[in-house]
Amino acid sequence: MPALSDATRGRILFGGDHNPEQWPEETWHEDVRLMKDAGVTSVTVGVFSWSRLEPRPGAREFGWLDRLLDLLHDNGVAVVLATPTAAPPPWLGRLHPETLPRDEDGHVERWGGRQHFAPSSAVYRRHAAAITEDLAARYAAHPALVMWHINNEYCTYDWGDEAAAGFRRWLRDRYGTLDGLNTAWGTAFWGQEHDSWEGVLPPRRVHYLKNPAQVLDFRRFSSDALLACFTAERDIVRRHTPHLPVTTNFMPLWSGQDGWRWAAEEDVVSVDLYPDPRDPDGPRHGALVQDLARSQAGGPWMLMEQAAGAVDWRPVNHPKPRGLNRLWTLQAVARGADAVHYFQWRQSRQGAEKFHSAMLGHAGEEGRGFGEVRRIGAELALLGPEVSGSGVRADIAVLHDWDAWWAGDQDGRPTNGTGHAELLSAWHGALWEAGLTTDLAHPESDLSAYRVLVVPRLHLLTDTAADNLLARVAAGATLVCGFRTGVVDPDDRVRPGGMDARLRDLFGIRVLHELWPLEAGESVECDGWEGELGSNRTALGGQLRVFRGTLWSEEIEAAPSAEAAFRYRGGELDGLPAVLRRDRAWYFSTLPEPGALKALLTAIAADAGVRPVLDGLPAGVEAVRRGDLLFLLHHGRSTVTVDVPGGHRDLLTGETVTDRVTLGRYGAAVLRP
Ligand code: GLA
Repeated sequence: MPALSDATRGRILFGGDHNPEQWPEETWHEDVRLMKDAGVTSVTVGVFSWSRLEPRPGAREFGWLDRLLDLLHDNGVAVVLATPTAAPPPWLGRLHPETLPRDEDGHVERWGGRQHFAPSSAVYRRHAAAITEDLAARYAAHPALVMWHINNEYCTYDWGDEAAAGFRRWLRDRYGTLDGLNTAWGTAFWGQEHDSWEGVLPPRRVHYLKNPAQVLDFRRFSSDALLACFTAERDIVRRHTPHLPVTTNFMPLWSGQDGWRWAAEEDVVSVDLYPDPRDPDGPRHGALVQDLARSQAGGPWMLMEQAAGAVDWRPVNHPKPRGLNRLWTLQAVARGADAVHYFQWRQSRQGAEKFHSAMLGHAGEEGRGFGEVRRIGAELALLGPEVSGSGVRADIAVLHDWDAWWAGDQDGRPTNGTGHAELLSAWHGALWEAGLTTDLAHPESDLSAYRVLVVPRLHLLTDTAADNLLARVAAGATLVCGFRTGVVDPDDRVRPGGMDARLRDLFGIRVLHELWPLEAGESVECDGWEGELGSNRTALGGQLRVFRGTLWSEEIEAAPSAEAAFRYRGGELDGLPAVLRRDRAWYFSTLPEPGALKALLTAIAADAGVRPVLDGLPAGVEAVRRGDLLFLLHHGRSTVTVDVPGGHRDLLTGETVTDRVTLGRYGAAVLRP
């Protein structure tokens, strides 16, 4: 199978979405001049070009695209060619209203925006296949073409009649009979038993709470319906260009697609990433999305879109201060990106995104933003041969799964304050703050490469996954598990005892009596109990005696074999275990406040022989090893000094550094020993 390296060819790809159909052709010539000036290696073309390529049903207007691809190629700019199927032309919806998606109330989403297609619509799929076929046939041999980009940010849901029919087919495949469906969905509750397949619907508007198993299956089905759209187009372009990699861009930490299943169908994993420049947690969020992309890819990945400055879809859109675009670009490269693209190359003057930044903004080539883009392009050209293709090694895996996300984040739960994404971010963020490099992994995957496994929350856990965790602990791995894990089986049926019995045994939970969710802002004291600390003391570095637990607590009766590393102090749960430990298996029945979680994870990892990338980093400095290079990234504005024992060469400056590096505002160094 082709890979990202077939497109990068030893470089880091650098460029953005290029939408020349918005501009007169004279501008294209200025574009290529400035692209060369900025070190642009590649652009993504055609993402929303369907109405230009097929202005009337069956018509084909490829002349403009021929000229564009030739121009780009003549100027040394490679092309990631998109299928335009994320934005059907207005005529498709007008002539074939069944191609338009419906929301859960039956309202139609019309053309005039984008992504107005019903994934299950046979007519949509036929038209999408036809334009993809002709596009692929026409450009298969074009020398500019290095990669295919299918559709854009697949994210539509559809509750319409064709979706209903597709959902029924999907359910028949899964359950075989109506009895199987009724059993899996627990339809005995509230008298929902189905007597015919015709009555089985997507979870449309109902009076009160929906059947959660039906909602879970609809999320699975919707992900699969979109995936079928992707694979259909992928197979078409592959037939024409088996040597070229195919991708589609994910939204960052998006719940709508089963990202593991999707990634397995792609040659290149690519993702879009837009942290808020004002958000102090921006780099932490970026690291999570980047670690996930690298883990999905199993190696180098592509940042398909980021913003050079402000976006236009937050209530207030802040530009990136000087240096931040460069710093976040280097962060992506440090965490495994071999390609960095932006939305978009040239800022639009019309349309919904005219106030969204671009590599070349309204200020033009004199603008500060373009100057920074030029610098980034030059630096990535330097780094390309040094990093391209290399990996990031992690000894820790954070386990994450979309099925668990969908099952856990539903109505009718104990609290809505413990969302999957929030907990994932809290646990991964604590590891990031601790300077510990982590992958993300599916709980059923081969986890033998990791010494520490961290489970933020896997509400739904399959038998295979539970056995996998047990086997890893038996083989010597350390498991750190957060609350609400192993609660339901794949049919969303609560496991006997309220939690998977194997896990309860593993952690030494004899009875899980009651769940005690906390209010937002509420916390509970947890205290390392002298009498039982013993070995935990060592594991926890003897430092952390007390922390405050947030979001959640549990009334647990521990088995005699379990040690309570921490106990609740005060309140209804006074004296009961808050953190349980049995050998290498840790169970957290509450979420420690961030500083405590960082300290606990640092100590537990150290006990398992896993250390941060660098010790003693100043606050705000991130260190990542990629291959044999050490990336230092300073997320603050003060000047800091980082101790790096020995002699190194900073690839960004060419200078030799000995024992320490000074980093200014948003500074970075890429050190080779
Ligand atoms: C997404 C889309 C782009 C653009 C950007 C704006 O990532 O894929 O087309 O709309 O958002 O941030």
